[in-house]
Amino acid sequence: MTATDYDAIVLGAGAAGLMCAAVAGQRGRRVLLLDHAEQVGKKILISGGGRCNFTNIHTAPDRYISANPHFAKSALARYTPADFIALVDTYGIAHHEKTLGQLFCDGSAKQIVAMLLEECAKGGVEVRCGQPVRAVTHADGIFSVAFGDRPVRASNLVIATGGPSIPKMGATGFAYDLARQFGLKIVEPRPSLVPLTLGGDDVLFRDLSGVATPVEAHAGKAAFREAALFTHKGLSGPAILQISSYWRPGDPVTIDFLPAAAPGWLIDAKRARPRATLAATLPLPDRLAQTLAERLALPGELGAQTDRKLADAEARLARWTFRPNGTEGFAKAEVTVGGISTANLSSQTMMAKSVPGLYAVGEAVDVTGWLGGYNFQWAWASGYAAGQAL
Ligand code: FDA
Repeated sequence: MTATDYDAIVLGAGAAGLMCAAVAGQRGRRVLLLDHAEQVGKKILISGGGRCNFTNIHTAPDRYISANPHFAKSALARYTPADFIALVDTYGIAHHEKTLGQLFCDGSAKQIVAMLLEECAKGGVEVRCGQPVRAVTHADGIFSVAFGDRPVRASNLVIATGGPSIPKMGATGFAYDLARQFGLKIVEPRPSLVPLTLGGDDVLFRDLSGVATPVEAHAGKAAFREAALFTHKGLSGPAILQISSYWRPGDPVTIDFLPAAAPGWLIDAKRARPRATLAATLPLPDRLAQTLAERLALPGELGAQTDRKLADAEARLARWTFRPNGTEGFAKAEVTVGGISTANLSSQTMMAKSVPGLYAVGEAVDVTGWLGGYNFQWAWASGYAAGQAL
C-alpha cells in the first residue's frame, strides 16, 4: 500500500459517510469507505419505523441546534431536500409526505441504503465493513488508518462515525476521540430527541402510561405543538422528543394541555354546563382529565366555582409545569446534541481549519436537527459538502 492508493478514507458508512463517499467517488476521487459494523447504514434501515423519514421539505437552518446557528446554512443551501428527492426519484423509490413535511419511503428504508450503495459503486468506492478501526495517525500530510490486517493511507480523512446515540446499534463516541486526537474541540454531547423522566411530585403522572394527547410543549424559548405521550418513566411523544433537544437538567418543561382553546373557555363552559364537573369538561383523554382535575382541586360542579378559580385553573392547564429529573439517555436518544465544534470546521467544506485534509460530517458534528427527517437532511448535505471538497 502506498500513500497514493486512496485520495480519501471515509470512516463510518452511515448516512453522511455513504453520501460523502459517493459524491467524492463520482468526482473521480479514489475513496475507501470503512465501518466496524457488518452492515452499512444500520440507522437508515431502522429509521422511520423501517420506512426512513429521509428528509423534510421544510428544512431550514433555524430547525437545527448548534453552538453556531449559522454554521449549517451553507451546506443546507447547497444540497437541499429537492436534491435528495430528485436522487430518490431517479431510482424510482416511491415516497409520500406523512405529516409536517416529513417524507417517507412507501416501501422500505432498504431502498435508500441500496440507492446509496449504488451511488458509491458508480463512483468506484471501495466499501469494507466488519472490523474495528484500531488507530489513526497523521504524518507528512498522509492519514494512516489501522483497519483489519493492514494499514490504509490517504491524503484526506473524513470522520463520519456519528454520535453515541443507541450504542447497542454500534454507535460510539469514536468521532470525538478522533477529533480530540487532532486538537478539535467537542461541544458537550447530550442525548436528544429522547424521552424525559419524571420523579418527585410529577411521579403520579407515570400512572397515565399510554395516554397521548396533542399539546404545546415549551422549554426555554422553544415550543412544539404535537402529541405528548405519558410513559411508565415519564414523558415522550413527538412534542416531548422535540423539546428534549432544548431542555437542560434542572429546567422545567411547561405543557399547554389545550393549545387550541380560546381564552376564557372554562368560564364559558361553566355558563353552558354548570352541572358538569371539571374532569367531565376537560376535552382530554379520561384518565388525564381525571388526574389534572384532581390536581387542580376543584371538586363538584363547575357552577359552584368562582370565575376567578376557573381562570386560575385555565392558566395552570395552559402552563402545566413538569420538572423532569432526567432523560432516558443515549440508549433511547434518536440523536446527539453537541459534538465536534463547528468553530473548528469550515462551513463550506466541513474541513478542519487546523488540519488540512481532515473532515467531519453528519451527526458527529455539533449540528442537530428537529425530529422529522431533518437529521438525515443534515447528513446528506454535510456529506455532500465534504464529498465536493476533498
Ligand atoms: P450514523 O450513525 O448513521 O453512521 C455512523 C456509522 O459509523 C455507522 O455505520 C457506525 O457503524 C459507524 N461507526 C461508529 N463508530 C465506529 C468506529 N469506531 N469505527 C468504524 N465505524 C464506526 N433521522 C431522520 O432524519 N429521520 C428518521 O426517520 C430518523 N429515524 C431514526 C430512528 C432511530 C431509532 C435513530 C436512532 C435515529 C434516527 N434518525 C432519523 C437519526 C439519524 O439516524 C441520524 O441522524 C443519522 O443516521 C446520522 O448519520 P451519520 O452518518 O452521521 O451517523
